[in-house]
Amino acid sequence: MTRRTILAGNWKMHKTVEESAALAASIAAALKDKPSNNSSAAHEVVVCPTYLALDRVIAELKGTSVLVGAQDMHWESQGAFTGKISGDMLRALGVTYVILGHSEQRAYFHETDETVNKKALKALAEGLKPILCVGETLEEREGGVTEKVVETQLRGAYAGISAQDALNTVVAYEPVWAIGTGRTATSQQAQEVHKFIRGLLTSFYDSETAEAVRIQYGGSMKAENAAELLAQPDVDGGLIGGAALKADTFLGIITAS
Ligand code: PGA
Repeated sequence: MTRRTILAGNWKMHKTVEESAALAASIAAALKDKPSNNSSAAHEVVVCPTYLALDRVIAELKGTSVLVGAQDMHWESQGAFTGKISGDMLRALGVTYVILGHSEQRAYFHETDETVNKKALKALAEGLKPILCVGETLEEREGGVTEKVVETQLRGAYAGISAQDALNTVVAYEPVWAIGTGRTATSQQAQEVHKFIRGLLTSFYDSETAEAVRIQYGGSMKAENAAELLAQPDVDGGLIGGAALKADTFLGIITAS
């Protein structure tokens, strides 16, 4: 089974609409003649700007194979939910992916396994592809409960999702202690947890489904460590924060992969 590598830039709360459009245009220009811009190529490239910039970035990337993702969504279609964005709205714009359950959402905005699941079910119903984030804190890793934490989050995220729909999901393993800290998990640490996640997916579904679902690593990925991480048998891509904010560092990861 060959899984297509997925490299997604998570721009978080960075960049104005103009700055986002400029970054998207640089990425598009650089990938124009590269095989990664060919849909049959081994790499899928995704950028996830702020909600405000989604429309502009989609317009900038038109005619390229770079896809666009959102950083969160609400699980209802519409209603009195001040400050929220629905999956229906994202789909209507032409968004393909949506990051759900990011550790920053969990830590600062009361995201729980239950809300991740509600959002994931709604995203799939809308034809959006959720990138489901899981990962342990430093305290949890040092306490020896990494697998327990990851299992609880993964089980919660996938509750009620059919095998058919699971094929449209991506898992992002993001050890919290590696996010934005410059401290990357070693390729062995990443592979260990990725393999564990694939085993869990096999137990939720079957080995064929588990072999098809892509598992990204996230946490201080950069050009210097991407090749080794991506060479691991169960590491199928990256969810990239800091290094995705500049075209050259993001493209460096694409080249390294
Ligand atoms: P980082 O962020 O690459 O800056 O560590 C990754 C993420 O939070 O998705």
